[in-house]
Amino acid sequence: MIAWIVFYYLIGAIPFGYLAGRIRGIDLRQQGSRNIGATNAWRVLGWKWGLSVFILDFLKGFIPVFGALNWLPFLTGDAGGWDFNVLVVLSCFAVILGHTYTCFLGFRGGKGVATTAGVLFALNPVVACVALASWLVVMGISGIVSLASLVAAVVMIAAGWWIYPLCQDGDVSPQILYVAFFTVVGALVILKHRSNIARLLNGTEHSFYSKKSK
Ligand code: G3P
Repeated sequence: MIAWIVFYYLIGAIPFGYLAGRIRGIDLRQQGSRNIGATNAWRVLGWKWGLSVFILDFLKGFIPVFGALNWLPFLTGDAGGWDFNVLVVLSCFAVILGHTYTCFLGFRGGKGVATTAGVLFALNPVVACVALASWLVVMGISGIVSLASLVAAVVMIAAGWWIYPLCQDGDVSPQILYVAFFTVVGALVILKHRSNIARLLNGTEHSFYSKKSK
């Protein structure tokens, strides 16, 4: 099972944004927000590259978790038990940690939004749609991707706490693992946006509605 988790980490660790930049002869870590995510790829390389990086980062979250949900029941023998749910949550976490702390770039990766979105759509489309709706509203109003991502992270945590039962039949439910997962991943996404939060607070964060880029 350790090999399974390491495999998931390595999938998440593929730095598509960095690779896209390299194809264009640009190191995204030195340009724009210096992030290797889709937003900075869009900003620095153009919308086609940004959209491609988003799709690839999304799919590297979605496909492995979709696979885990379908294959792990055969390995654990129980799709509703603790073993299955622990492995699903660890798989999800490994993919996201791979992206945010990629071993291929000295453990300095992206901010985790697109990959978390992919994981979320595979894991729980309801939570995913609620978080996406909040992202779209904030993005539509402000044009600031980081602000939309931060709000979506908080909404994801709240939706997780709201939707998953913590107890079933008087016992702690394995579903509590997902509440913990959403909380930790939401906190991680917020932590990775530290520089954005500083810019938001001093009013210098880039908005796609303004011409100036930071
Ligand atoms: O997904 C990352 C986004 O929320 C912020 O990206 O490049 O503006 O720091 P960036």
